[in-house]
Amino acid sequence: MLKKSIEKALNKQVELEGSSSQFYLSMASWSETRGLTGASNFLYQHSDEERFHMLKLIKFINERGGKALIPSLSQPPENFKGLKDLFENLMEHEVNVTDSINNIIGLCLDEKDYTTQNFMQWYVAEQLEEEALARTIIDKLNMIGEDKGGLYLFDRDLDTMAAAELKESEGAK
Ligand code: FEO
Repeated sequence: MLKKSIEKALNKQVELEGSSSQFYLSMASWSETRGLTGASNFLYQHSDEERFHMLKLIKFINERGGKALIPSLSQPPENFKGLKDLFENLMEHEVNVTDSINNIIGLCLDEKDYTTQNFMQWYVAEQLEEEALARTIIDKLNMIGEDKGGLYLFDRDLDTMAAAELKESEGAK
């Protein structure tokens, strides 16, 4: 049975993962309307992954005798100055998500809830991967600068990454 404090923290994480999904959906749509097909495919895919992160938590809470709360979500930002600004927003958001996951793990250790702590390790690994990927993308964008040809190739790269991520996430389900 889940302790109330853990249940509350996990439900807060459900909301955060749901908000991430909406935020990346907004980024995907922004990219799509600017003809950045690769970026939009990558971000739609990323949004789906965040929804999966939310679902995984909902099921865990309910399976452990808690009650998952389905949150109402606020409207995410809809305008970005450019792709670099967009991915910097994404990176910042992911760092906040990682902090939140670390806080849950700290709470699990305080409460001696090793089952939830173990479950949350999957999220730790996922965050490590996502932050590294966001950093690589920002590094590439810094290198490209204002070069339109570079941006075109980068957008194509993102398309390939989206396809690879899709394959990987299908395997995780
Ligand atoms: Fe599920 Fe990227 O946080």
